[in-house]
Amino acid sequence: MRTPPNPFRFDREVSGDFFCGREADIKAILSHIGNGTNLIMFAKRRSGKSSLIKEVFENHLSKDILSTHIDIFTISTRRELYEYLKAGIETSLVGKETNLEKLSNLTQSLRGLFDNAEVKLTISSSPSLEIVTTQRDYFKAITDLFSGYFAYLDKMNKKAVIAIDEFQKILSLSEGEKIEALLRTIANKRGSVSFIFTGSKKNLLLSMFNDKNRPFYKLGMEYRLEKIAKEVLFAWVEERLKRKELLIDENAFDLLYKEAQGEPRFIQMALYALYEEKQPMSVIDRGDMMRCIEEIIAYKSDFFLLFDTYSVTKQNTLKILAKTNGEDIYNKENLEAFEISSSSLQSTVKSLLKSGEIHEEGGGYTFEDVEFKMWLSRI
Ligand SMILES: Nc1ncnc2c1ncn2[C@@H]1O[C@H](COP(=O)(O)OP(=O)(O)OP(=O)(O)O)[C@@H](O)[C@H]1O
Ligand SMILES: [Mg+2]
Repeated sequence: MRTPPNPFRFDREVSGDFFCGREADIKAILSHIGNGTNLIMFAKRRSGKSSLIKEVFENHLSKDILSTHIDIFTISTRRELYEYLKAGIETSLVGKETNLEKLSNLTQSLRGLFDNAEVKLTISSSPSLEIVTTQRDYFKAITDLFSGYFAYLDKMNKKAVIAIDEFQKILSLSEGEKIEALLRTIANKRGSVSFIFTGSKKNLLLSMFNDKNRPFYKLGMEYRLEKIAKEVLFAWVEERLKRKELLIDENAFDLLYKEAQGEPRFIQMALYALYEEKQPMSVIDRGDMMRCIEEIIAYKSDFFLLFDTYSVTKQNTLKILAKTNGEDIYNKENLEAFEISSSSLQSTVKSLLKSGEIHEEGGGYTFEDVEFKMWLSRI
């Protein structure tokens, strides 16, 4: 019998069968989109922001609402920002449409709406629509692009949602402030469009939206993405393991969830490996899980270099945080073992929180990079 394909995935955003839970988030996001509300969604890295958007857009959003998910993580110029936004808007207009006649009608209805640009339908291997601008001032080109898009939505009486992922990236572009102001003006004109701004650099993102003197001040509602609950993930994992007739001990899963501090990427990565390795009709126990985690962490040789960049006080603080899994860090034993005073530990924790290496969660601390935490707790 052929082994069913591995049901776990950790190397890209997930949706559909690879996506677990988040029912309440999906419902809330759909309702905000329906109301045309802007959202600012933040959560630490690898916690599932992009996957959630992908899942909502692909599998839950009404087909009448246009959508696009634009990840601007790799951009470094205004031209690239324009190109990414343009590609996103083209995708949202075309959707899944491949019928030539319908695309041709769409092209017709878009003509004349975009200043300084032509709308072209190209038919090569598959038909595609392109907005070709002659504008070389990319501030103006971005304005024209959105004005044209909004005019189309008005004309057709359609709603849309635009998700811009890693939004804090615009701050790093030259004349970033001007771009912030420009996008603010655009987002204000939106009418029936809701924007979802996401990012993992929470401090940067929040500084844009919570500072009275910045253009994005109060432009959207903050949406905090929480962890997927352990019981929900466990049930989801059990069901997938069954496809290869594998069982998992609950305490093996507890260990994984705790070590990974609930991070879904690490959890999927470990289970991917175990699914490959274990024979059908066997059980994944705590020993298997421990070994699997050790193996993943053993590859992380570059953490030595990272560790070396911290002061000794920070190194000790990080070790305490890792070894306690971020819980009850001020106990006397730790302070003595790591030769650090409670006040010094407190101020170093504050500084690590500010620089985003750790986060406060449920009365404890979680690491931005859980693998670094696992590595630290083993040295
Ligand atoms: N709802 C989910 N169900 C199952 N696995 C998930 C879920 N969300 C995320 N994951 C896992 O976490 C990984 C990272 O998810 P994703 O890329 O969506 O996170 P992110 O918060 O956008 O990360 P980054 O900040 O690095 O862009 C996915 O590849 C997948 O393995
Ligand atoms: Mg992402």
